[in-house]
Amino acid sequence: MAIRLQGKRALVTGGSDGIGLAIAEAFAREGAHLLIVGRDAGKLETARRTMARQDRGVAIETLSADLATSAGIDAVGSRVRQSDRPLDILVNNAGVAYLVPFETVSAEQFQNSFALNVTAAFFVTQRLLPHLSAGASIINISSYFANKMIPKRPSSLYSLSKGALNSLTKSLAFELGPRGIRVNAIAPGTIDTAMRRKSIVNLPAEAQAELKAYVERSYPLGRIGRPSDVAGMAVHLASDEAAWTSGGIFAVDGGYTAG
Ligand SMILES: NC(=O)c1ccc[n+]([C@@H]2O[C@H](COP(=O)([O-])OP(=O)(O)OC[C@H]3O[C@@H](n4cnc5c(N)ncnc54)[C@H](OP(=O)(O)O)[C@@H]3O)[C@@H](O)[C@H]2O)c1
Repeated sequence: MAIRLQGKRALVTGGSDGIGLAIAEAFAREGAHLLIVGRDAGKLETARRTMARQDRGVAIETLSADLATSAGIDAVGSRVRQSDRPLDILVNNAGVAYLVPFETVSAEQFQNSFALNVTAAFFVTQRLLPHLSAGASIINISSYFANKMIPKRPSSLYSLSKGALNSLTKSLAFELGPRGIRVNAIAPGTIDTAMRRKSIVNLPAEAQAELKAYVERSYPLGRIGRPSDVAGMAVHLASDEAAWTSGGIFAVDGGYTAG
């Protein structure tokens, strides 16, 4: 099969773990040069080394930055500005999920959630706009939670932030389309990552068992997702195969939201 992202330059936020790492690995396999961003420099370096071992002849760079802060967003802008070649692919993936009851959501949780899930996607994209190539692809990692809830998994704050990201995706597709820039979102179902494990670890055993049973009977394909399940869609949206695809919110969820 032809290499689909040969020579393209991609930036993946949250590219050191989970879904973002799987997307970065898939992009590298398809020949893209990478800049991955996260907070923990050690995790970034481990990811870089693992991808470098694949030896695809691609450059893999890392940037440690907290995207929930304006300094972190500035750092991304400065790093990309240093390059004399435009960026072809931007994946706004870093996110945080507070699955807590509406009445207990704190102002700090609200602020953190919007800072990373919405503000970072908005302003990282704005900062990088002058450095995007004509034909660039922006991919926002949303969630099924924007539109579909799970019993006993209170999601008002998370759902609100991902709904906002979906609106940003559609409005930017409209606004940036005339410049040849495509903007799409992927809405994954439940994916087995550190984020997911962290969100269930404090539930009582009974609630964990109930959740597992709910997932097994609710996902038509009978299992939750793996990070690599999301990466395939990201490669497609990043590639020229999707040259006329913009403004879409693509479910990658084993059929969950079909029901
Ligand atoms: N897992 C799921 O079930 C699921 C389902 C639907 C949608 N999603 C969405 O998919 C995206 C990725 O989730 P995931 O499950 O792969 O998460 P994850 O395994 O926790 O990985 C998150 C990544 O983002 C980075 N990150 C976190 N906070 C950051 C910050 N403030 N600044 C910069 N980087 C930061 C992390 O590195 P550091 O910690 O080192 O910063 C890590 O690389 C999120 O937007 C999430 O909402 C996840």
